[in-house]
Amino acid sequence: MSTPVLILNGPNLNLLGEREPETYGAATLRDVVERCSRVAEDIGLNVEARQSNHEGRLIDWIHEARTTTAGIIINPGAYTHTSIAILDALNAYDGPVIELHISQVHRRESFRHHSYVSRRADAVMAGFGVHGYELALRHIATLLG
Ligand code: DQA
Repeated sequence: MSTPVLILNGPNLNLLGEREPETYGAATLRDVVERCSRVAEDIGLNVEARQSNHEGRLIDWIHEARTTTAGIIINPGAYTHTSIAILDALNAYDGPVIELHISQVHRRESFRHHSYVSRRADAVMAGFGVHGYELALRHIATLLG
């Protein structure tokens, strides 16, 4: 098995499918992870998916990922807009990082327009819906050669 790509989801994304479906869609996080696992298998990747509502836990997982994963796809949820600590953790990570937002954040409230994480991200995706996870995975496969 190849070194896994970590799909990391931050706060409130456990409620995908229930929370603001007009913005985030009807698919659940489980649906997203299942789809990603299938795509990963097709393209010869291995994925590991984690979600937490807690900033420190996300940071611990990013630290752990330094030696155990080939790349990170991260949807930091609202921490995108507030967390210098998550940015610092990602700055200590050497592999490719893709920042992903289900919604088109730039069309939403102005407080969602700024991302700390973008300073580190190799690519930023917003507005592709949950389909973005699959696209990010395919892109990271390209980056990893
Ligand atoms: C989000 C956008 C953030 O602004 C928001 O706080 C989220 C989800 C997205 O996926 O569109 O929780 O990251």
